[in-house]
Amino acid sequence: MRVLGIETSCDETGVAIYDTDQGLLAHRLYSQVALHSEYGGVVPELASRDHVRKLLPLIEEVLSAANTSPKQIDAVAYTAGPGLIGALLVGACFGRSLAYGWGVPAVGVHHMEGHLLAPLLEPNPPSFPFVALLVSGGHTQLVDVAGIGQYKLLGESVDDAAGEAFDKAAKMLDLDYPGGPLVARLAEKGTPGRFEFPRPMTDRPGLDFSFSGLKTFTLTTIAAHAGADGLPDDQTCADIAWAFQEAVVDTLVIKCRRALEQTGKRTLVIAGGVSANRRLREKLTESLAKIGGEVFYARHEFCTDNGAMIAFAGAQRLLAGQTAELGVNVFPRWNMETLPPLAF
Ligand code: KG4
Ligand code: ZN
Repeated sequence: MRVLGIETSCDETGVAIYDTDQGLLAHRLYSQVALHSEYGGVVPELASRDHVRKLLPLIEEVLSAANTSPKQIDAVAYTAGPGLIGALLVGACFGRSLAYGWGVPAVGVHHMEGHLLAPLLEPNPPSFPFVALLVSGGHTQLVDVAGIGQYKLLGESVDDAAGEAFDKAAKMLDLDYPGGPLVARLAEKGTPGRFEFPRPMTDRPGLDFSFSGLKTFTLTTIAAHAGADGLPDDQTCADIAWAFQEAVVDTLVIKCRRALEQTGKRTLVIAGGVSANRRLREKLTESLAKIGGEVFYARHEFCTDNGAMIAFAGAQRLLAGQTAELGVNVFPRWNMETLPPLAF
């Protein structure tokens, strides 16, 4: 089965063709970062309009790159939520209509399930069951995963998501949007140990997270060292970035270890934009090795939003006979636990 995947939930237009026998044939991504950067964050209406502009040329490109004619497409998978409603509607209307026109089934995919399954596209994929840490711009969740569609939420952020915290810290340090990768790069020049930031909610039981206090801590540290332009000197900014990243990473590592202990599992999958963070990968690998555990993640380009994960997740659901109705339905908020399991 050959599936065209479409991702438009936020500020990336992603398309891909996944073949259940041959694997991923081609993928294309257009990032709207430049469009939104002057506003310091995503402007929903601009995002929707840009998806309209980019989707068709990208689909033509990916079909050609996969040496595939529309007649060879067996189904279309599109992100149906969660995400920005206008942006979701563009991909869903487009995908649903293409499938109708081509006379093939369509399926609406849960964006976070896409992220969660992305590591399965790698050559050495994790096997079920496992614990997943989903860390993106909108989500920070620990999920007990028994199989596809068998998700139990173990804990989540009670306020900001980890990626959101990175983006806010970046803004305070006068870095561009999205700030996560820029904070990570600045942190590489930081002096370890000059600042010590708190590891929120790690001193009490439970698997929930809170990152908003770290935001305040970052702001007060910046203010305490600020010069005339409102910012500390370059080295101090790097030292703050280091301390901030270390605090987020340690907090995530502590909770992942706790989730594995609590569920008696040894396999951890990390997914979503923040799973691209090198320090997080390093520290998780090191920490899990001590308990004989293993951490899996997607290749760098499939950690952040992309069409490949949607084509792949959609293919799994289509193989199990699940399809979308003719109407176009999107879900800006959508609890992953409500997804049906795959019943073959
Ligand atoms: O999964 P994603 O592309 O979009 C959402 O579904 O939200 O995640 C984007 C988030 C942004 O907050 C971005 O700053 C963060 O992932 N991010 C990172 C890194 N790369 C992306 N955060 C920390 N370190 C990185 N290397
Ligand atoms: Zn995402």
